[in-house]
Formats: sequence, structure tokens, C-alpha cells
Amino acid sequence: MYRTHTCGELNIKNIGNAVTLSGWVQRIRDKGAMLWIDLRDRYGLTQLVFERENIDAELLEKVKSLGREFVIQVTGQVIERESKNPKMETGEIELKVQTLNILNKSLTPPFTIEDESDGGDEIRMKYRYLDLRRTPIKNNIELRHNMGVETRNYLNSHKFFEIETPFLIKSTPEGARDFVVPSRMNQGQFYALPQSPQTFKQLLMVAGYDRYFQIVRCFRDEDLRADRQPEFTQIDCEMAFVEQEDILNMFEGLTKHLFKNVKGIDIHEFPRMSYDFAMKNYGCDKPDLRFKMTFVELNDVVKGKEFKVFDDAELVVGICAKGCAEYTRKQLDELTDFVKRPQIGAMGLIYARYNSDGTLKSSVDKFYNEEELKKWAATFNAEPGDLILILAGKEEKTQKALSELRLEIGNRLGLRKSDVYYPLWVCDFPLLEWDEETQRYYAKHHPFTAPKPEDIHFLEKDPGKVRANAYDLVINGVEVGGGSIRIYDRDLQKQMFGILGFTDEEAQKQFGFLMNAFEYGAPPHGGIAFGFDRICSLFGGSESIRDFIAFPKNNSGRDVMIDSPSEISDLQFNELGIMLKP
Ligand code: AMO
Repeated sequence: MYRTHTCGELNIKNIGNAVTLSGWVQRIRDKGAMLWIDLRDRYGLTQLVFERENIDAELLEKVKSLGREFVIQVTGQVIERESKNPKMETGEIELKVQTLNILNKSLTPPFTIEDESDGGDEIRMKYRYLDLRRTPIKNNIELRHNMGVETRNYLNSHKFFEIETPFLIKSTPEGARDFVVPSRMNQGQFYALPQSPQTFKQLLMVAGYDRYFQIVRCFRDEDLRADRQPEFTQIDCEMAFVEQEDILNMFEGLTKHLFKNVKGIDIHEFPRMSYDFAMKNYGCDKPDLRFKMTFVELNDVVKGKEFKVFDDAELVVGICAKGCAEYTRKQLDELTDFVKRPQIGAMGLIYARYNSDGTLKSSVDKFYNEEELKKWAATFNAEPGDLILILAGKEEKTQKALSELRLEIGNRLGLRKSDVYYPLWVCDFPLLEWDEETQRYYAKHHPFTAPKPEDIHFLEKDPGKVRANAYDLVINGVEVGGGSIRIYDRDLQKQMFGILGFTDEEAQKQFGFLMNAFEYGAPPHGGIAFGFDRICSLFGGSESIRDFIAFPKNNSGRDVMIDSPSEISDLQFNELGIMLKP
């Protein structure tokens, strides 16, 4: 028997017990007469103790040959520690070792396997199996496991079937770029890996399966960020005979269940916010509601005073940073540099200090006297001690830039605590987005999303005005999930493809299977998909989803551990019928 206990479970009640443990050598501390080893496994750490005087030469030799990350098995007696460590589960005891068996040696690991490692990102990814030994990562993987279990528990208790859908599917021109897989048996033809099981889950509704879910891998060939991976996981769900309200309630329920059962947190009703309201007040469709600092529009207050920047702007809008009037010149310059960064793209930042003595001073005093500034302050409901920050320009760009500035100020003021959760539903998204470059509409969510019935009459003449029966679940400024009520009528689906620039033939070729299915009794249906990696990282208090994925890709989409993607042999090319470029 390799072990009687794990390294995380022995405590004061086990004193006097003879036990066997197996694990990895985390740390060796040699103090001459005494020598201690921290032994680690998935469950925790147990301190082993060796008294030089009381152990035989053979055991001492073995102990001396040990190094970090050796795999050993030890037997001994549990004794009470002299100096206890209240921070450790096993901190009251230690194991007085009688026998030691080296199960395997280890090279010196290229970085320390501690909570705070000395290894950089690249090296830790290369040796991901060592990185995964570290407790913080292990905790993330455990959290992810628990999230999966609780998701299944909840959905199973609500009669959802877990059904697998294929990975080798068909490339479609909408959405992100596809990853494609050449077919050997059908030379010159390609499968695509699914960006989501969207059409399959809709077909399952046509098939009458009513409530479907799947914790499923999705693949998208897009540029990567901290919250994006080329392969990621969704909790993908669909329901038949439902309206938007039914879906929001069901998945608000799932979210609350996860918070309660995984984190022990009770979350109250989720507010609902329209897309228009979110854009107007927060400048983005995924507002972080952990703090207020809503936008205040100033067009009516500031125009007509010969200040060209404001007079020429489509939108003049600002936020009030509570208690920041004392910001130094340097801090204000930093904020100006922040909004001028190319990713944000503002031309400049205008500010007004509402000093604690009641005086007002702005960066545009030449154009606005104190009387005028008082009007600004009143519009913002500002109080002495506050700092008003204003951006001006094209509406969409300015909203976006101010949204980033709002988050930056939120960070600086410590208002974005990682253990406070503020979920909401954002609803009534526009159905379509106009793209100047290609001069066509794109589906904001996807082409299967139903328009709001009351807006259908705009579809023909003014499609940009149509709102969708679509919703996003947003928590702390993160888009955790999104979904919609679907079109289930063939003619409406066909019309939708037409608006998106498909000819009838193209639509039939790409999506005929779905439109045909709609002719065989498709029920009203709708659904949602949660970004599983994102919700895990949010629960874990991190912005990066990578640490919640056992084997993630780096920012160039590479797996540096297995060195993938990689070249394939000429033979493989030949078998696939793919011509090699000379
Ligand atoms: P959507 O494209 O909005 O909807 O995706 C759903 C959720 O998946 C997460 N997500 C990602 N997570 C990590 N890396 C990525 N590259 C990535 N892309 C998306 C986000 C997002 O909210 N089929 C529809 C859902 C539906 O309509 O039911 C869909 O895929 O958290």
C-alpha cells in the first residue's frame, strides 16, 4: 500500500498513529541535529521530521540523497509539533519517519514549486505539469471541477439532458474564423471545428429534446487576450417552449446555485439593463456595477463658449471621481496618457477640480469661468473634493474611451474588489451591426437570433433599428454568457440571411439543413452559453482564464509544452491530397 493517508489530512487526533504517506519533496530544511521535509500531494503538506541521533545510517543516507520534487514514500509515527503552524491544516502535527522509500528521483525543477514561483510565464507553460503542482493552480483546477459538478447538478435537477454534438462540422462564413481540418477520405474538402454547437442544439430542439446542455469545447481562430483562448469551454444550453423571461430565470438560478454551492455566497436579484441604457450610462455593453460613477452628458451645458473641442464634438461626456480633487499634476498627466494610448484613442482629457474650499478650477479656464464650472459641477452632482473628467469627440469612440477611463479610476480607487460580485442582465441588443468597410450588416449575436416582435416591421426598410431578443449575463464587467430567443420560422430565417447579404443559394448551401428542419415542426426555442473558463476565473478572482485551464495556449496560440502547432510530414500532406507549395 503506497499510503494510508494523504498529506492533507493528519491532525491532532492522529497523534500516536502509525501511518504511510507518499508524495513530492517540497522543501528540505537541515538544521544539523534535526532535519525537516515538507511532503506534498494534491491534498496538502505534511511536515516530516528526522532526528539525526535517532535514525540509522541507511535512512540518513537516503535522506541526504533527496532533492526537491523527489517522489517518496515514508512510514512513521504522528507526533505533536513543538512549534505549531495555525495556517496549515496539518500544522499541529509532524511525522517522525521510520522508513523512507524513494519511488522516483527528480531533476531540479526549472522554477520553484511554491505559491509564488520564481518562474516566468513561458517557462511555467513549457513545464506546465510542474506548474500544475503549485497550490494556487491546483486550487483553480479544483474550483473548475466543482463548478462543473454543480452545473451538472443544477441542470440535471431541472431535467436538462447532457448531449454531445460533433466536433468535425462544417465551415460557415459568419462569426470568428474557423479552425479547419482536412479530410483524407474526401480530398480537397475540409471539416471545421465548431465555434459553438449553436445549430446542433437548435436541431435538438426540433428533435423534441426540450432542455439540452453540454459542457463543451469550442474553437475560434481569433486574436487572443487574457479572457480569450482559441479553444475554450462553454456551458451550452437550449430550451424549447420558452420566452426570454423563462431563460433569464433559469440561468439566473444556475448562477445563484454556483455562487451558493461553490463559494457560499448568496446573490440577490440580478438587475436588467437595456443595451441603450448601458451604453449611455457606462459606455459599454458589459458595465462593471461594483461602483457607480455613471456617465454625465454635457452637450447642452458646455457648447457655445468658443471652445472648439467641445463645439465640434458629437458627444461631450464625463465622470465624477469622488474625492479625487487633490490629484497631482503627475496623476492627471498619467490619466491623460492613459486615454491617449492608441488602444483607447482619445485626443485629450479635460478636467475640473472641485476643491474642498468650494472653488473650481479646470484645465479649460480660458473658456469657462467659475460660474460656468459651477453649472458643470451641478450637472455632475459633484461635491467639494471631487474631480470631474471629461472626454469629447465622436459618440461611440468617446463612450468607449470614457468607459476605459471609468474602469481605470475604479481600479485606482480600489472599487473593483475581486471578492465582490455584481451580476446583471444586459438585454435588447441591436439585432444587426453595420460595417463600413464591407458595407453590409453583420448579426450582432448570430444569424439565428430572433428580432423583437415589435421591431420586425423595421426589418425591411431600416434593419439597423431592429432590437434582438438577445441577452448577456455580465458580472463585474465580464461578459460571462450570452444567448437569445431563436428564429424558428423558415421564412424569417431566410429573410435574415438575405439581410446579411447571402443569396438564397448561399443560404441554402450553408444553412439549408437548419432551414429544412424548420419545416418539420420546429418549436419556439432559445438558449444561452456561459463562458465556462471565464466564470471559473471570475470565481477564482482572476482576470486571466489561462490559470483555470489545465493546458492552455499562449498569446500566439501555441502550446509551448508539446510545441504545437507543428509541421506535418510530406506523407501526411500527400495522404490529405494537399499540394505543397514549392
Ligand atoms: P458567444 O459567442 O457569445 O455565444 O459565446 C458565449 C460565451 O463564451 C465565452 N467566450 C469565450 N471564452 C473564452 N475564449 C473565447 N475565445 C471566447 N469566446 C466566447 C464568453 C461568451 O459570453 N452560441 C452562442 C450562445 C447562444 O446563443 O446560446 C455563443 O457561442 O463568455
